[in-house]
Amino acid sequence: MRLALIGDIHLFQTRVHPSRLVGKRLLGHTNLMINRRFRFNHRVLAPLIDRVAALKPDSVLLSGDVTTTSLEDEFHDVATYLQPLSREVPTVIVPGNHDKYTFRSARKNRMGTHMGGLLPASFPHVRPLTKCWRLLCLDSAQPQLLWSRGALGYEQMRDVTAFIETLTKNDALVVLCHYPAKMPAGIPHSWGHSLAEAKPLHEMLRDSPARIVFIHGHVHKPWQWDPANGGKPGNGDNSGLMYLNAGAPCLTSNRYPFGQGFWELDLPDDPWAPLELIHHVPEAADGQHTPGTHSTHSQLDLRWVIHRVL
Ligand SMILES: [Fe+2]
Repeated sequence: MRLALIGDIHLFQTRVHPSRLVGKRLLGHTNLMINRRFRFNHRVLAPLIDRVAALKPDSVLLSGDVTTTSLEDEFHDVATYLQPLSREVPTVIVPGNHDKYTFRSARKNRMGTHMGGLLPASFPHVRPLTKCWRLLCLDSAQPQLLWSRGALGYEQMRDVTAFIETLTKNDALVVLCHYPAKMPAGIPHSWGHSLAEAKPLHEMLRDSPARIVFIHGHVHKPWQWDPANGGKPGNGDNSGLMYLNAGAPCLTSNRYPFGQGFWELDLPDDPWAPLELIHHVPEAADGQHTPGTHSTHSQLDLRWVIHRVL
């Protein structure tokens, strides 16, 4: 079972009607214009979608924050980018905090309306992936006036708890949630940027007899780590719980001048067999392109470097 994992895309619109720039969106748009738009290069998105499609995954998972301030046009653009892929491959997305950026966008279920059937109709959502692997989708996003704090809420946490309690050592589970339930040592994090139920959720998953892979985004750094292995990358076959950060495919930096790429995860038929995990990272095909700072939607010519992690 081959999964492709895509993290925080953060598509945006720089031209927004002034009547839309109220409340938190005014803050978000100001941050976009003076900061964020210079760090995201959405020209990598089309070649990334092409690359994912070429791998012929059995399923594509997106960990949320596909938009920046939950505008209709942002959702529409993301859905258009994804369409060549989502038409062919089962594609599932969970909301990030930027996808419920304003109270109005959350109340109107703007993401559900504009992302077609990619967003589950309700949460928690469980579906089979293989005979032994299942997918658990969580909605950890909620609109906030100032912070970026996430929450599952009482009812979702209650239902997740009841579901996790049914799992045995013969079960294997992929959890898809925008916020991580635990961070590796040394990564700074704050109350206002975390998931309210992070500790009980992590402990519940850690103590489950099932094999669990927790896929998240939110923190724009792609990583894989194993809490049972002292916070270091695990070998994928000796631990019940592994965290995988999908990263931000369009965020540029010195380390990732053409974005952080995406992950390919192969799930074994035996739930306790080793996983196969590959990080696909883009580089300029001809070395001529200038990295970073472009948000136009014209396509880049990239080649892909493969890092086999597990
Ligand atoms: Fe986020």
